Amino acid sequence: MNNTRPDLKWLFNQHKNPDLTLCQKLFSPEVARKARRFHRQIPGFKMSPLLALPQLAQMFGVGGIWVKDESERLQLNSFKVLGGSYAVYKYIKSLLKADEELTYAELTSTEVRQQLGKITFATATDGNHGRGIAWAAEKLGHDCVVYVHAETSRPRIEAIRGYGATVKIIAGNYDDAVRQIVVDAEKNGWAVISDTSWDGYTEIPTWIMQGYTTMMAEIQEQFSGQGITRPTHVFVQAGVGALAAAVIGYYHALFPGDAPRCVVVEPEAADCLFRSIEAGDEKPRTIDGKLDTIMAGLACGEPSPVAWEILRQAACCFVTCPDYVAAKGMRIYATPLAGDPFIVSGESGAVTLGALVSILRENCVGELRDFLKINHDSQILFINTEGNTDPVHFRQIIWEGANPVPREYWTDSAA
Ligand SMILES: Cc1ncc(COP(=O)(O)O)c(C=O)c1O
Repeated sequence: MNNTRPDLKWLFNQHKNPDLTLCQKLFSPEVARKARRFHRQIPGFKMSPLLALPQLAQMFGVGGIWVKDESERLQLNSFKVLGGSYAVYKYIKSLLKADEELTYAELTSTEVRQQLGKITFATATDGNHGRGIAWAAEKLGHDCVVYVHAETSRPRIEAIRGYGATVKIIAGNYDDAVRQIVVDAEKNGWAVISDTSWDGYTEIPTWIMQGYTTMMAEIQEQFSGQGITRPTHVFVQAGVGALAAAVIGYYHALFPGDAPRCVVVEPEAADCLFRSIEAGDEKPRTIDGKLDTIMAGLACGEPSPVAWEILRQAACCFVTCPDYVAAKGMRIYATPLAGDPFIVSGESGAVTLGALVSILRENCVGELRDFLKINHDSQILFINTEGNTDPVHFRQIIWEGANPVPREYWTDSAA
């Protein structure tokens, strides 16, 4: 069963049949504990908040709306550093052939640095992942080269340079930057730490996904402090799909047979996962071209095969949105109902809330709402995956009203 309306597209996953063994292998509570133990040693590391929006929940007649707010994670404005730093750690551990977990103090010790020599970490990014790798390389005293594509905004590039990385601008899109860095890394002996996978390159992207489980373990701890066993629904945004796979895989590993309903949300201009599920033959699909969207973090045309394996089996529904849905989400976060917290959310961070509000407020998406069984008991989780990562564009949207919702989709009917 699938449906469209002019501004939102959605597709229910007909083949949903999660491979629980795979989810357990990659995202078990023990994997999450290890990742969290590593992250907690990083100086200045703090749990990010899980914020409740009770007024918005009441307005929409749902039990709870919860936002894991990653906008200030390690002062890097995004969740991405969790994956990048953990993969760098695991990579170094593998070079040292260390069986035991290494402490952060060992990792930064002169002895370990001398043993390793200078490493050049290399990655392609649409902004946030590169910033996380540059940060980790600088902390550990190594070098870093980051390739960005031609449309990457200046503030995002400067943020990466701020951590001492060399940034090179590559013609084409994110996927072209990935292809180029692989070629150049081979020539120069750089260590590629990519958040997307390909044939023969899966271990590091898997470590990155496992790094994201720190956030999931925090969420579950925070929910249990509220007397909530687990959310009923999770809306998660996707570029290559690594974050979504980690979230969904984690929940299936933790609650086998009873995981939350997970909805994957993409920009309509970069809907490679949607198209992959639409094709119906379990194989990922690639899209090409400019991938023109304000959701820079989600502007990816090729699913990560490791992530796709989980998503095709375990995601409940795939949704695509035009840019103004993300802009709407940013404005909702920035102008909360009285009593709800104010949240700084960038384009890629806010699209899921924008999508939910469209789903809940518009009669014509009733089928989607019914399929997802969103009702008064629902506890809905969002991840605000980024804060203000592009201040100029952020102001254009929040202050100047860029990317407005077309008049015909104004939600001025009753909720
Ligand atoms: C802010 C933000 N949100 C979500 C994502 C999506 O993550 P993934 O590419 O793993 O799907 C990204 C990716 O860079 C991002 O930067």
